[in-house]
Amino acid sequence: MSDNIESVLHEDRKFPPSPEFSAAAHISSEEQYLDMWNRAKDDPAGFWGGLARENIDWFQDFEATMEGEMPETKWFVGGKTNACYNCVDRHVTTWRKNKAAIIWEGEPGDQRVLTYGDLHREVSKFANVLKKLGVETGDRVTLYMPMVPELAIAMLACARIGATHSIIFGGFSADAIADRNNDAEAKLVITADGGWRRGKEVPLKKTVDESMERSPTVEKVVVLKRTGGDVSMIPDRDYWWHDLMEGESADCPATELDSEHPLFILYTSGSTGKPKGVLHTTAGYLLGTTMTSRWVFDLKDEDTYWCTADIGWVTGHSYIVYGPLSNGATTVMYEGGPNWPDEGRFWEIVEKYKVNIFYTAPTAIRAFIKWGDEWPNKYDLSSLRLLGTVGEPINPEAWMWYHKVIGGENCPIVDTWWQTETGGIMMSPLPGVTATKPGSCTTPLPGVVPDIQTETGESLGANQGGLLVMTQPWPHMLRTLYGDHDRFLDVYFSRIPGRYFAGDGARRDEDGYYWIMGRVDDVINVSGHRLSTMEVESALAAHDDVAEAAVVGFPHDLKGEGICCFVTLKKGDGSEEMEKELIAHVRKQIGVVATPDKIKFAAALPKTRSGKIMRRLLRDIAAGRESAGDQTTLEDVSVLDKLRASDE
Ligand code: PRX
Repeated sequence: MSDNIESVLHEDRKFPPSPEFSAAAHISSEEQYLDMWNRAKDDPAGFWGGLARENIDWFQDFEATMEGEMPETKWFVGGKTNACYNCVDRHVTTWRKNKAAIIWEGEPGDQRVLTYGDLHREVSKFANVLKKLGVETGDRVTLYMPMVPELAIAMLACARIGATHSIIFGGFSADAIADRNNDAEAKLVITADGGWRRGKEVPLKKTVDESMERSPTVEKVVVLKRTGGDVSMIPDRDYWWHDLMEGESADCPATELDSEHPLFILYTSGSTGKPKGVLHTTAGYLLGTTMTSRWVFDLKDEDTYWCTADIGWVTGHSYIVYGPLSNGATTVMYEGGPNWPDEGRFWEIVEKYKVNIFYTAPTAIRAFIKWGDEWPNKYDLSSLRLLGTVGEPINPEAWMWYHKVIGGENCPIVDTWWQTETGGIMMSPLPGVTATKPGSCTTPLPGVVPDIQTETGESLGANQGGLLVMTQPWPHMLRTLYGDHDRFLDVYFSRIPGRYFAGDGARRDEDGYYWIMGRVDDVINVSGHRLSTMEVESALAAHDDVAEAAVVGFPHDLKGEGICCFVTLKKGDGSEEMEKELIAHVRKQIGVVATPDKIKFAAALPKTRSGKIMRRLLRDIAAGRESAGDQTTLEDVSVLDKLRASDE
């Protein structure tokens, strides 16, 4: 799949914003958008430089807005700033001092509201704690925490002193934590005794303990008491958060950092090998998330904004923490599952806090549809004025349901396309401007210049599927893959020289709207989480009884893509017990996010004569389709027939 990706989606419905919405929006007309977009394209330095001076507080002004060609572009060169200062300190000197910064709801129903003043105090205290534990500017700190305010506090405290945070989603295993600790050479781990998920305690500290056996660079562990569950504390290594905070000073000025100072590393799956440590830096990322939050979510001071993502993923970094807080907004944070204690939980939260802007993932929307309209219908959702989606293409049916049942046909929907690597939203409707089409992320934001190209870098015309690339650098793009700049160049900039290749296929329709067609390589998107089929294969192959494994995605009603594993055992045909064992094995190696949906045992896998597994054919089998296309390179055609027969 490359130059010609066949598109099967045809969608003609269009939903323009209401005149009232447009009139009140930050960007309110097509002319305004086009003017911004053209200015950014023709004079990126002038465009972004102006925004940076207006919207970011600097300790020292920058000398050059940009320097160097993509992919080595440096932004706001010579400037000094601090992301935490911009998200917290600058608000406490204004009327926002006592405004709610974070409204938090725990899964058991407990709640906390932190004003900007509270946040400033807690972050400053914890930044002092970090310093006392020996963390210095430039050190890496791993965060493995539940969705509690202390996670945001810890992130911001790291940013405050210039320590680079690396957040690991709470569903990952001890091995995954150790790999990331080692890759980043993390000095400190911050965790909690546990977190609540669907009424059960997720034993975070226990998992960290296991990871410590293989994490030689980590010197200390800070443990937040959340669930009160049993944990073992090792003297001189493990410290309770509350002990460290007690009596700590709230005076800790933000460190003046270079614009390009590393803000965070976030690991994401690649098509081969180990996870990639996507590195984002301070000023460009901050500006990108600040502006895109305002443009796309039309954030206003009076809004209550809720992004349902987990902070362990980039969406939570950019659109629960940095973007909203930099804008001085009120951001809602919820700890637990959407169906706990029942399937109405999200809507109960919307009603309770009168949420105005709601941002979630298509996989969640598909689950809501399955659970039935009676859940949202029980609650008053009339506070909502804007809805968003992210993480994977949204199917038009789910879009229409979201529009009708949640939005009451009254809220624009912003379908936001972006990636861990892009740092912030790249393509999305502007809610006061764009007439949306269900299933399309519509048009690029100002400063984003995409194209659809062939493998040889030729632009494709309307409705021709091809590779989605970016032709100009933007401030919030990743700077490197931590510790592996060659891999960074290879993965993103070698497929079409001079272009950023996102890894997605897409087409542009006759109106210039973009339609994402999914990943073109061996990365699958499970419930909006990007997973490498390679990593699941390696995990399976690490089991003593497995000879070989091939993993593919298949269409899954709820998850978008499910994980189907074809496994050849060293001995025997496989059994239900073995299936269970392998599922548990993958969960242990990678984490619950990678739980296989199907395991299919096979005496042999379909291979080319050169020995490459033909995943294309396996994808057809997993999806229950006939295989179209060339099979002549298959070494042994009977392998396919056997696989199909065993499937019936
Ligand atoms: O394939 C695209 C899909 O998710 C990938 C990025 O995954 P990740 O880095 O984990 O970041 C997810 C949250 C930003 C993309 O390459 N994707 C994300 N948003 C959309 C999407 N596909 C279609 N439409 C979207 N709105």
